[in-house]
Amino acid sequence: MQALSWDPTLAKKYDLHGPRYTSYPTALELRSDFPSAPVKQALLTSDAPLSAYLHVPFCHQLCYYCGCNKIVTRHQHKADRYLDALAAEFDMYSPLLSHRGIQHLHLGGGTPTFLNAGQLTRLMFLLRQHLGFVPQADSEVSIEIDPRSCDLDKLTLLRELGFNRVSFGVQDFNHIVQQAINRVQPLSMVQELVEHARALQFESINLDLVYGLPLQTAQNFEHTLTTLLNLRPDRVSLFSYAHLPNRFAAQRKIATHDLLAGPAKQQLLLRAIERLSQAGYQSIGMDHFALPTDNLAKSQRQGNMQRNFQGYTTHGSDCLIGFGVTAISQVNGVIWQHQKDLPAYYAAVDAQQLAVDRGFQLSRDDQIRAAAISQLICHFELDLVAFGNAWQIAAHDDLRDAFEALEPFIADGLVVVTPTRIQVTEQGQLWVRLICACFDAYQRNSGQFSKVI
Ligand SMILES: C[S@@+](CC[C@H](N)C(=O)[O-])C[C@H]1O[C@@H](n2cnc3c(N)ncnc32)[C@H](O)[C@@H]1O
Ligand code: SF4
Repeated sequence: MQALSWDPTLAKKYDLHGPRYTSYPTALELRSDFPSAPVKQALLTSDAPLSAYLHVPFCHQLCYYCGCNKIVTRHQHKADRYLDALAAEFDMYSPLLSHRGIQHLHLGGGTPTFLNAGQLTRLMFLLRQHLGFVPQADSEVSIEIDPRSCDLDKLTLLRELGFNRVSFGVQDFNHIVQQAINRVQPLSMVQELVEHARALQFESINLDLVYGLPLQTAQNFEHTLTTLLNLRPDRVSLFSYAHLPNRFAAQRKIATHDLLAGPAKQQLLLRAIERLSQAGYQSIGMDHFALPTDNLAKSQRQGNMQRNFQGYTTHGSDCLIGFGVTAISQVNGVIWQHQKDLPAYYAAVDAQQLAVDRGFQLSRDDQIRAAAISQLICHFELDLVAFGNAWQIAAHDDLRDAFEALEPFIADGLVVVTPTRIQVTEQGQLWVRLICACFDAYQRNSGQFSKVI
């Protein structure tokens, strides 16, 4: 994606809220009291490569902007209790997974590097003991790192434990912005970690940035972008700040008048796209950029990139299992989420039950719409002939509601539809979430989701 011409009228018209579509239906559609029988059935009948997500909810300090599922605590021993529960959970899942081994593992949070060296070592030992991994050459093992909770020794340990991809949370390099979000981390801290990760030959280094944070301006964001580009990570995740103070109490500490909104916030994204593409980064779906040498960029070029609860991935597994509190799984057309609070999660696991709190079984119509949304959000186009053949449908007729909903986007030049193809234009890529929503049969009150830009 190159520099985009900016149409203020469209920017105003589409300054809307919408789902991020890490799943379809979105997690809001999961039903409570979902039985564990379909979960077990899905697991037993799946033979897809096993992708595992493991949620570590703890953080040492609260970042005011944070929208993640986290528990802020200074008590390191809480993680020991948590690892006991995970061990019990691995043990329950193990017979259901026919011992085929983990191909992809992602540790997210919260902050996985809240765990100390002993706890990280124990966690990887437990995973190997109960579930096992496929041979190392084929596995992708990644972790989210808060630079403030990871020194060089911990990074070395992670490499020794088998991690081959790292993602560092940065958000912004300006001190005043860092103060406003209660997350002060000097550049030297990030720089040393990135250099050390390179020396350790991690296969991919990602940095997370957020645009639209309090006290960010067009000028100081330029500094963040320059600093980022000097570090030259393999990947960049550039998230739009999701300001939902009704859902995340700490965000109420952020003054609305400190936030750029509408066109001013959108300009930050445009400038980032411009600078990243000038520096040789490839735009990956929504919010993500990668150097052409990175596997995710290759995967997008080859047309096999996918999207799941962790965002974009090189591997489309229909067997993604989430472990830990709040974790979400998707296997064979069944989605389920674990209990969101720790006592309820512990109670379920202690009672030797799968900690299924809510879930959803996709109908055939859901699966068709999910496939269309996934294709559009990953590749910005949908080959209607291949899609129709794959699902044995006549897309224009069977998804008539979606084509009708696309009409305003077509009129505004954001989408081109022909009898054989839906193509999201470069301008339309900025609003791909809204374009995907045309295929969404559930169409919730969109205020429940974050702003698209
Ligand atoms: C679980 S955190 C990453 C690991 C670690 N906890 C950290 O903060 O470094 C996941 C990422 O989500 C993004 N994020 C968190 N809250 C957000 C929000 N309200 N809006 C947009 N992005 C957000 C940040 O970029 C953050 O790095
Ligand atoms: S941004 Fe990361 S470190 Fe900060 S509170 Fe959220 S999960 Fe924890």
